Amino acid sequence: MGKVIAIANQKGGVGKTTTAINLAASLAVMEKKTLLIDADPQANTTSGMDFDPDSTSARTLYEALIGQRLFSEVILDTEIKDLKIVPSHINLVGAEIEMLNIENRECVLKKALSEVVDQYDYIIIDCSPSLGLITINALTAANSVIIPVQCEFFSLEGLGKLLNTIRLVQNKLNPGLQIEGFLFTMFDGRRRLDNQVAEEVRQHFGELVFKTIIQRNVRLSEAPSHGKPVILYDALSTGTNNYLNLAREVIKKNTPHTEQPETQTANE
Ligand SMILES: Nc1ncnc2c1ncn2[C@@H]1O[C@H](COP(=O)(O)OP(=O)(O)OP(=O)(O)O)[C@@H](O)[C@H]1O
Ligand SMILES: [Mg+2]
Repeated sequence: MGKVIAIANQKGGVGKTTTAINLAASLAVMEKKTLLIDADPQANTTSGMDFDPDSTSARTLYEALIGQRLFSEVILDTEIKDLKIVPSHINLVGAEIEMLNIENRECVLKKALSEVVDQYDYIIIDCSPSLGLITINALTAANSVIIPVQCEFFSLEGLGKLLNTIRLVQNKLNPGLQIEGFLFTMFDGRRRLDNQVAEEVRQHFGELVFKTIIQRNVRLSEAPSHGKPVILYDALSTGTNNYLNLAREVIKKNTPHTEQPETQTANE
């Protein structure tokens, strides 16, 4: 059964989409069957993966959520063998209103995903910078959430609001929802502020902070305009390396100890 991970933070521009695309691509390159879902009407993940939101022949998350298509019909192939995508479209904004009259409207995505969850190792959901109905659907469908944190002065304030929402979802809709980890993004080790904020977040959240840090890397910001995850744009870049490390850390966290290969010493 696939692990569903939402990438969420209601603060804009903190690296959610960059993380969703590049974590998903890294997992797929490591031969994990991965589904990347764009749950943001801005459709940045969609265009960053070289899909034109206007020419996906009405096969986007929107149609699946409002019941016009089966979920399996909106899953499209990508350039990477083990990576599939569910694109988004600006009309996803309307879904929030159209879903208002649906029974259990917070659980629509969870129900749709149940059709396909067995076919994947990881399902990564890119959320929009809002805590509206679509994001609540993502958090209800998810097993865990990755919270990208840009090391800026106001970062911690915003985290409080997000954690309240997560608690609310845990109490009312999805008791099993866990925090996969806080992830530092666009980190610049030369800046004192970055180090101070990172230190503060680590003090607050300890083990919940990923060991992997995503450094500021221009290749990561260039790759989407070429419609590629960074690993296909510049395989040797720092960004590629950072997101491969994140994928390794996620896989390690989610592999039961008994399944990990034993250290090969005795017989060699
Ligand atoms: N590690 C990085 N190094 C350099 N640039 C980055 C990095 N991560 C993200 N960026 C750039 O920062 C900008 C915001 O990143 P991104 O779109 O991933 O954030 P977001 O949280 O998804 O934004 P939104 O809230 O609007 O959905 C983009 O231009 C992206 O290319
Ligand atoms: Mg985004």
